[in-house]
Amino acid sequence: MKIKSAEIVISAVKMEQYPKDDLPEIALAGRSNVGKSSLINLLVNRRKLARTSSSPGKTQTINFYDINGQFRFVDLPGYGYAKVSKASKEQWGKMMDLYLNNRKNLIEVIQLVDIRHAPTQQDKHMYSWIKHFGFNGIVIATKLDKIKRGQRQKQLNLIRKELNMNSEDIIIPVSSESREGKEELWELLTEVFRV
Ligand code: GTP
Ligand code: MG
Repeated sequence: MKIKSAEIVISAVKMEQYPKDDLPEIALAGRSNVGKSSLINLLVNRRKLARTSSSPGKTQTINFYDINGQFRFVDLPGYGYAKVSKASKEQWGKMMDLYLNNRKNLIEVIQLVDIRHAPTQQDKHMYSWIKHFGFNGIVIATKLDKIKRGQRQKQLNLIRKELNMNSEDIIIPVSSESREGKEELWELLTEVFRV
C-alpha cells in the first residue's frame, strides 16, 4: 500500500464530532498499552502520527486518521487500565457503544491482543462484541518481537482458543518494532478497503 498522506482528522469525544463524509473506516480496539497507536504508525510509516506511550491510558478519545483521502483508521481508547475511575470506565463504555453501534462508515474492527499473554476477560468481551455487531473481526497479536520464535504457534493457538475463534477467523502476529507482519496485514486491509 502506497501511503501518500496520513493525518489526524479529529480526536472526538462525542458523535457530533465524527467526520461527516462517507469514507470507510477500520477501527482498532484493545487493552491499554497493547500497541494500537503503534500499529497505526507502523501501517502508515510514520513514527509519531498516533501518540504512543509506555504508560497505559494514553489514548482517551476516538481518534480518526485520514489515509490518502481514501479511508480512515480509527484509534479507539484502550480498556483494562486498573487506575481508571469508575466514572471514566462508564464513559468509555458509552463512547465505544455509540461508535461501534451507530457508525455507518465502520466496515471492520481490528482487535489487538498481546502475543505474550492469554486474552483477558475484557479481550473476550470485546471480541464477542465485535462479532455481535456483525463484523468479521481481525485479530492482531502484537509485540511479536518480545517472544521466542519457538513460542509463536503455541501463543497463537492459545489466543484462538480463548477468544473462541473459528478456523476461518484471522489472526496475524505483528511487531511494530521489527515490522514483521506488516505486509500480510496490509494485504488483508487492502481487500477489506477495496483499495
Ligand atoms: P493506549 O493508548 O493507552 O490505549 O495504548 P496503545 O494500545 O495505543 O499502545 P501504544 O501504541 O501507545 O504502545 C504502548 C507501548 O508498547 C509503547 O511503549 C510502545 O512502544 C510499545 N509497543 C507497541 N507495539 C510494540 C511492539 O510490537 N513491540 C514492542 N517491543 N513494543 C511495542
Ligand atoms: Mg493509544
